Amino acid sequence: MSDDALTVEVHWARTVSADVLADVLTRAERERTATVQNAESRNALASSLVLARTAVGAWVGVDADAVELRRRCPRCGSRVHGRPSASWRSVPDDVHWTPVPHVSLARTAGTVVVATTLAGEVGIDVERRIERMFVGFDDVVLAAAEARAVDDEARLRTWVRKEAVLKAIGRGLDVDPRTLVLGPGDEPPRIERGPVGPWHLQDLDPTGGAIGALAVGADGPVSVRVTQVQLTGRY
Ligand SMILES: CC(C)(COP(=O)(O)OP(=O)(O)OC[C@H]1O[C@@H](n2cnc3c(N)ncnc32)[C@H](O)[C@@H]1OP(=O)(O)O)[C@@H](O)C(=O)NCCC(=O)NCCS
Repeated sequence: MSDDALTVEVHWARTVSADVLADVLTRAERERTATVQNAESRNALASSLVLARTAVGAWVGVDADAVELRRRCPRCGSRVHGRPSASWRSVPDDVHWTPVPHVSLARTAGTVVVATTLAGEVGIDVERRIERMFVGFDDVVLAAAEARAVDDEARLRTWVRKEAVLKAIGRGLDVDPRTLVLGPGDEPPRIERGPVGPWHLQDLDPTGGAIGALAVGADGPVSVRVTQVQLTGRY
């Protein structure tokens, strides 16, 4: 396990087919994945779940099959959706909750990302670059002070930055993204108005086809290490 409290490990992978991952998905993950009709989304889901367990396992020092992902919604208490956490099994039948690392994950067509850290609450997001942002984006997402997004690339950047921060506070889009004021998407990220910090907010572009952002509630300098993982059907 890393000793550096302010290290953030970002693992990313290109998605692979859910069929290829069938043997490394848990039964619950297989059942969930099977409900997704769209193949790209199904592959992204399966890949993100395997990558998340792989990333937590790498931090803790165990295989991915000894890691269990959990969720809890701060709004309704559901354990089916919401902020992720992880537990790991050091020996069979003995499940220890890991108080750390904090974990966050995101998926988009073609790319999945996971952040793990001891530094503080963490949120990560990734989106595939798109040709055109949806009509009405500025009204739904941008605060009045931000309503000068220069182009769709800047809009998408603002979007992933906001999602990362809102995931880090455990709320996601339960919070109106217009209440979070960031700098313009074509400038280095900063939080002008939002949850009480300090925050480390940075852009992450794992591949040419996807852009992302990472937010960490960290009181001190953060060192981010980015590692590409090749997902396969074996641990
Ligand atoms: C967080 C959220 C923005 C992510 O949406 P998305 O773009 O479709 O998906 P991403 O690939 O970026 O991220 C998915 C991951 O976000 C994480 N996530 C979900 N809710 C979260 C929350 N409240 N806080 C932090 N992370 C959250 C989960 O790890 C999820 O993975 P999972 O589906 O395997 O559990 C969206 O799910 C959301 O806004 N959820 C909260 C909405 C809410 O609270 N509704 C009230 C329900 S009672």
